[in-house]
Amino acid sequence: PIPERVADLLGRMTLPEKVGQMMQLDSREDLDDHVLRKHVGSVLHTSPERVLRAHDLTARTRLRVPLLVAEDCIHGHSFHEGATIFPTQLGMAASWDAELVERVARATAVEVAATGVHWTFSPVLCIARDLRWGRIDETFGEDPVLIGELASAMVRGYQGDGLGDPTAILATAKHFAGYSETQGGRDASEADLSRRKLRSWFLPPFERVAREGCRTFMLGYQTTDGVPITVNDWLLDEVLRGEWGYTGTLITDWDNVGRMVWEQRVQPDYAHAAAAAVRAGNDMIMTTPGFFEGALEAVESGLLAESDLDRAVARVLALKFELGLFEDPRRPDAERQRVVVNHPDHAALNLEVARRSLVLLRNDGVLPLDGGLTADATGRAVGTPGRTRRIAVVGPLADDAQTQLGDWAGSSGQADWLPDGQPREMITTVLDGLREHVPDGWEVVHARGADILVLAPDPEGDTFPDGQPRPQVVVPSAPDEALIAEATAAARTADYVVAVVGDRVELVGEGRSTATLDLVGGQIALLDALAATGTPLVVVLLASKPLVLPPSTRDAALLWAANPGMRGGRAVAEVLLGLVEPSGRLPISFARHVGQQPTYYNQVRGQHGSRYADLTQDPAFAFGEGLSYTRVEYDDLRVETDVLGPEDHVRAAVTLRNTGARPARETVQVYVSDTVTSASWADKELKAFRQVELAPGATATVHLDVPVADCTIVDARGRRVVEPGEFTLLVGPSSRDSALLRAGFTVKCPT
Ligand code: IFM
Repeated sequence: PIPERVADLLGRMTLPEKVGQMMQLDSREDLDDHVLRKHVGSVLHTSPERVLRAHDLTARTRLRVPLLVAEDCIHGHSFHEGATIFPTQLGMAASWDAELVERVARATAVEVAATGVHWTFSPVLCIARDLRWGRIDETFGEDPVLIGELASAMVRGYQGDGLGDPTAILATAKHFAGYSETQGGRDASEADLSRRKLRSWFLPPFERVAREGCRTFMLGYQTTDGVPITVNDWLLDEVLRGEWGYTGTLITDWDNVGRMVWEQRVQPDYAHAAAAAVRAGNDMIMTTPGFFEGALEAVESGLLAESDLDRAVARVLALKFELGLFEDPRRPDAERQRVVVNHPDHAALNLEVARRSLVLLRNDGVLPLDGGLTADATGRAVGTPGRTRRIAVVGPLADDAQTQLGDWAGSSGQADWLPDGQPREMITTVLDGLREHVPDGWEVVHARGADILVLAPDPEGDTFPDGQPRPQVVVPSAPDEALIAEATAAARTADYVVAVVGDRVELVGEGRSTATLDLVGGQIALLDALAATGTPLVVVLLASKPLVLPPSTRDAALLWAANPGMRGGRAVAEVLLGLVEPSGRLPISFARHVGQQPTYYNQVRGQHGSRYADLTQDPAFAFGEGLSYTRVEYDDLRVETDVLGPEDHVRAAVTLRNTGARPARETVQVYVSDTVTSASWADKELKAFRQVELAPGATATVHLDVPVADCTIVDARGRRVVEPGEFTLLVGPSSRDSALLRAGFTVKCPT
């Protein structure tokens, strides 16, 4: 039933006013036309100045229906200069810490709300499977349970204690659903997905947040089985609104309605496209200016019933009432921005999450540097009196502040958001971090060593909306020998080389997938040359997604830092110096070669012969992996009761012992394997995880609990079921079989 206030307002609206409420347009374009002629219900890509202007224009409209202001605040407030930019979602996922992620989302909401934005297009619940895809960095990785857990925390953080709270912002679960299942990793391509496959892995995280009250869902760009997601009745109506009882708002992705006409060519014109999109259940149409005339024509010609349109408009209005926008449109508040944007507590949280996002993948003992140091009261390392060390910090990303932030950070290669990106002085690069944290007397020398790419104008003369030429990415084809010589000279006279390599933001993001996973530009030649010097080598991989390292780095220590945000360089320095323990775990597997795709751990079993003649199928680093500076041993896995009914819980305990000399934060991972399944299924799936802190020498008993109701498969008819029989519980520090302890249990049919 439509709430009374909504019905009353709806009853007073003209058809153009209703159509306008369903539209979200780009605030960087003609705001007068958007608001005064099209009566838009929402704007995106904002600045406080544009938002204020949009509100002022709205106040001149007949009904003064307040605007919903939306933005992609993905890991902090992307479009706001000076806002806290946290590690990317993939980096945060490496913390495996839902409570931490919730705090990040809460801090982001507080900053975002002060700038007059009501709605963030975050979190991303896509499953990252093909590493060539340009948006891997925006995901929580490859596992549906980890994604569901972290996404749910993020939604709680954004939406806070309820939408009436002025610091609460609307969360968006995106991109519904299956968008990441690309062809060849290319963004927005056809997603070749059966309904069973969707139900098995792609839908569960969305179902979780839908049931937990995420207030908005966004579609992707994909077409599945010939049907653009924008008009996929099965997913939008039957599954989302029907089975899951979702009552929130559904928004398309960028110009999805127009795309059905000019790109996918499944609709002859905007009237038909608008009618189909509204009938399928979309409420808000993003950046399709032609929806206005299209929807009017559709209703006037009888293609679309006005009652279908009313249903969508009612949902948009209800959201505005719930946010209290009719009483207070929540305009940008300059005074509050001064207080909350980049608040010291947020900066401290940013450092904490950056530290927790770092994953140590290989270490033959070179780390922590000089055996590990301790910090003084200012956080700087204290060395042994009279002993000095020289560190050569090399590589194109050692001092690249904007790339360290990653995509959606005001510095995207694809947008003109903040002309110079975020202020340089707010960002600590790895070079800054080491300079500021090595002990007095240590020397830090720097050489760039290589370039990743250069930008040249688009040969077709394409421009950004402001008329500036849109750059085209050009990868340098040959290493620069002079840069390499400078770096190796620095390396030869150093005690350690820290090489910071990876990808640049121009190689990441929407429409920017990569054909290769190799380090590009002069980076491989640089690493080969550095390894040949014989100076102990530490590779810091500052990469938006798992990349492949060259064989020359086989013996080097390796730290994956994803895009670690504004304070990431300090966090890296602290871990290298041993001031902070590395504790991140991979939320995604690393491939050995681009052709090895896919490498995710939960592939269905029994594919005899589905391996390469020239390469193992074993990933370079598996889901869940990550080292510490200490060693934690797992022992004595015991299941409390090994015969269970479908309503029971598998209760187990495992003993952990920190056998090293340094503290540990251990992520205990719990997988379940169903021995015989009626349809092909993954050999094991993550079901739970717990983090435990262990002092050197300490022992702990960790209690684990997995509901039998979670030990499901999706059968050949597409039903999610527990199939009675034999199961194995697998517990350990990663998804690698060799790392896991096992205990059997049996699920009996109910009598
Ligand atoms: O939110 C994004 C989406 O993830 C991809 N297309 C554009 C939208 C708005 O910027």
